[in-house]
Amino acid sequence: MRRRTVLAAGAAGAAGAAAALAGGTSASAAVRSGAASTTGDIAGHPDRTAPLRDLAARIGLRFGTALIPQDIETPSYAAIASSQFSVVTPGNGMKWQIVEPEPGVYDWSEADQLVEFAAANKQLVRGHTLVWHNQLPDWLTTGVANGSISTSQLWDLLHNHITTEVSRYRGRIWQWDVCNEFFLDADPSGLDPNNFWIAALGPDVIPNAFQWAHEADPDALLFYNDYNIGGEDGTNAKSDAVYAYAQQLLGDGVPIDGIGNQGHLDTQYGWSPQLLQQDLVRYAGLGLKVAITEADVRTFVNNPTDQVPTDNLALFAHPYEYSEMLKAALTVPELISFTVWGFTDSDSWVPGTFAGEGYAGIYDVNQNPKAAYYSLQSDLALAAYGAPRRIRTYTPRA
Ligand code: G3I
Repeated sequence: MRRRTVLAAGAAGAAGAAAALAGGTSASAAVRSGAASTTGDIAGHPDRTAPLRDLAARIGLRFGTALIPQDIETPSYAAIASSQFSVVTPGNGMKWQIVEPEPGVYDWSEADQLVEFAAANKQLVRGHTLVWHNQLPDWLTTGVANGSISTSQLWDLLHNHITTEVSRYRGRIWQWDVCNEFFLDADPSGLDPNNFWIAALGPDVIPNAFQWAHEADPDALLFYNDYNIGGEDGTNAKSDAVYAYAQQLLGDGVPIDGIGNQGHLDTQYGWSPQLLQQDLVRYAGLGLKVAITEADVRTFVNNPTDQVPTDNLALFAHPYEYSEMLKAALTVPELISFTVWGFTDSDSWVPGTFAGEGYAGIYDVNQNPKAAYYSLQSDLALAAYGAPRRIRTYTPRA
């Protein structure tokens, strides 16, 4: 299928083959080492030391992280990655630049490594990402720019890319971020006409991408993923545009299953957890699943190595924003996974992208859990067990 046609297939099936996997670890694990700890409730009180994945499993939530090869190859990192998280996303390993560095020459090593790690640790996988303007191979962007790749050839290349990658991992990917970051940061928002794909192929690229992904793996849940669509922008213009567009896709029979809200926050900006909740609820109101896909909270730090916040208030804002993000998510039953974009500050993308900022993860540069970790753990414990009833201290007289 080259051009958009009436899409016969309905929304993709709700359950991937891997969904039968258990959500929790086989034994509770210590926060840092992943070693077995004493487990279970403490005389009826929630066990606040349980791993995040185990607490999340109590309410059917998958708690995830992005992983890069270093997280898997470094034993101390891998222990955290396996013990704390029940769904993993390749930070880079499934992007086109990585998997097809030369035309027709594939390198699946990083993607395979992650999928195998996930299987070994009873984790599900979020595939990320099939169609994005960034991290494309040079041969592709250069070929489009100089005209050596025609429009017709580009359609074929995209179709082949999606089909090849999704087919390779058929049955092993729970959720795919099919299309990533297509909307303008503007009021009003809308599809960015200067986006590489929109400029080259027009807006039909999105429904076609979903359809091709669905044909290659009918059981994978197919997501549209973006940032600033969950309470970051007071006008909510980008969220409005994504909501309207998702509604249109569904009306056209496009097999989209969910909206991914990335959740990259920065303590220097305003952000509304109430608006996040409203946005999640309205996406879910369309019949879609929702997910927090790339949560982190950055702030200004002393240097990129130590990443000590320069403002003491950031020490409070950081766990607060993580906690509020999770609690907003927990109120929405259609929210099926909450993923942090890497767990440790030592391999965060933030210092390399935002000069002077860091401290974005839930573990510090030495892999010690931060206040944000404990906030999330408490929130999950309360959600998992239900907040205990208050003990009775005073009975008013009638
Ligand atoms: O692999 C090369 C290496 O060979 C080279 O020596 C090095 C020098 O800079 O660069 C390495 O590539 C880097 C790549 O990450 C792998 O580490 C790129 O420079 C760097 O730009 C790239 O950054 C990634 C970024 O996406 C690209 O926009 C981050 O790791 C990745 O975490 C980040 O993830 C994105 C999501 O996919 C979509 N949402 C936003 C999120 C954060 O930007």
